[in-house]
Amino acid sequence: MAAALNVLAPTWSRLVQRDRVDGSVYTDPAIFRAELEKIWYRGWVYVGHSSEVPKPNDFVMKAIGPQSVLMTRDKDGQIHLLLNRCPHRGNQVCLEDRGNTTSFVCSYHGWNFRNNGELRGTPFPAGYQGVDKSQLGLGKVARVETYKGFVFGSFAAPGSGPTLLEHLGAAAEAIDRLVQFSPEGEVEVTAGFLKHRTKANWKFIVDNETDGYHPTFVHASIFSTAKSGIGALYNNDSTAVSRYLGNGHSENDLRPEFRRLDKPLGWFGTSEDRLPEYVAKMKVAYGEEKARQILVDGTPHTMIFPNLFIAEIQLFVLQPLAADETVQHVTAIQFKGAPDLNRRMRQQTMGSVGPAGLLLADDTEMYERNQRGVQQRDPETLFLGRGLHRERTDENGFTIGDNTDEVPSRGMWSHYRALMEAT
Ligand code: FES
Ligand SMILES: [Fe+2]
Repeated sequence: MAAALNVLAPTWSRLVQRDRVDGSVYTDPAIFRAELEKIWYRGWVYVGHSSEVPKPNDFVMKAIGPQSVLMTRDKDGQIHLLLNRCPHRGNQVCLEDRGNTTSFVCSYHGWNFRNNGELRGTPFPAGYQGVDKSQLGLGKVARVETYKGFVFGSFAAPGSGPTLLEHLGAAAEAIDRLVQFSPEGEVEVTAGFLKHRTKANWKFIVDNETDGYHPTFVHASIFSTAKSGIGALYNNDSTAVSRYLGNGHSENDLRPEFRRLDKPLGWFGTSEDRLPEYVAKMKVAYGEEKARQILVDGTPHTMIFPNLFIAEIQLFVLQPLAADETVQHVTAIQFKGAPDLNRRMRQQTMGSVGPAGLLLADDTEMYERNQRGVQQRDPETLFLGRGLHRERTDENGFTIGDNTDEVPSRGMWSHYRALMEAT
């Protein structure tokens, strides 16, 4: 495998340039296999949220790319990420989406594993005389770290590579901003997930999450049907900005527009009088002035590379399965201590990304048309130069552009290339 990856290395300077990428990065199965090794099985990947396993012995089935991962909480409260593969002859040890159990029993020959991955016992143990049981536990995602309830995993050996905080860098602030919408400072991932299987490369989706150019066109129908003010945020004269945050992360920072409008909860298409209990709790928690600022600013629109998109009212988790296949897992964000806001978050989520929703269906149609179109031979590249001439640096040193500019995409691709070139 290592040799195959190195054959690719010299070509990256041609495949990924400052303002364009080669179409094969979306279609080539060899590149997809290399991405699994160099991005998905090496760096930090979002897996799940601690609120999905609130009690000791809870578990939930998750994934890192094609790898099926069990997120468990052991009896002492510690979270583990276990690979769903029996060390005996490779059977899946768990078929349930979630539950509560102290052990997983393999259905093939009955090996029994603790929820921290250790092999507890085997049937007819006399047949394993002299065998070291401690070497026959479930595989584990080597590094597990949590930031404000968001659980990330990395297959890199402990002590190697950046820490989670180093990886998140400036994107950690998006999580900070998000959790403060709870009067108790905590997000809860309890609304269940919709899964959209999409015949497109995962990077088309990453590219699109902070692409402020397409909403005016792709989402024209929902903006007019819902009489939404969101469309104006992505107009040519919007004061919102696109920003590259480093390490592949990016955002559309809509706060300049919301501050100009200066309406608490305006970002959510509602007003304080519709959610009096929530607003009162926020004022108690943060004080009048800060609560108002939080509610004016709105929640983040931030893509945390490679797979967590904080989409204002939803979380998207991307799961690549093949060069041309990705599952988008999506859930309504819920805030601890905010039942009245949460109900509206769920309703809006169903309206936008549910089975009959009016938003994600349009994006997904674009992804699949992208995937089909990019297989044509000519032109070979995708052009990502919008706004290159007007890129600028903000007061914190980050590259920003107009909200319709391709600053996030260029940033993501520069990071991607560095990861793919790394040995
Ligand atoms: S494959 Fe799991 S016990 Fe045999
Ligand atoms: Fe979109």
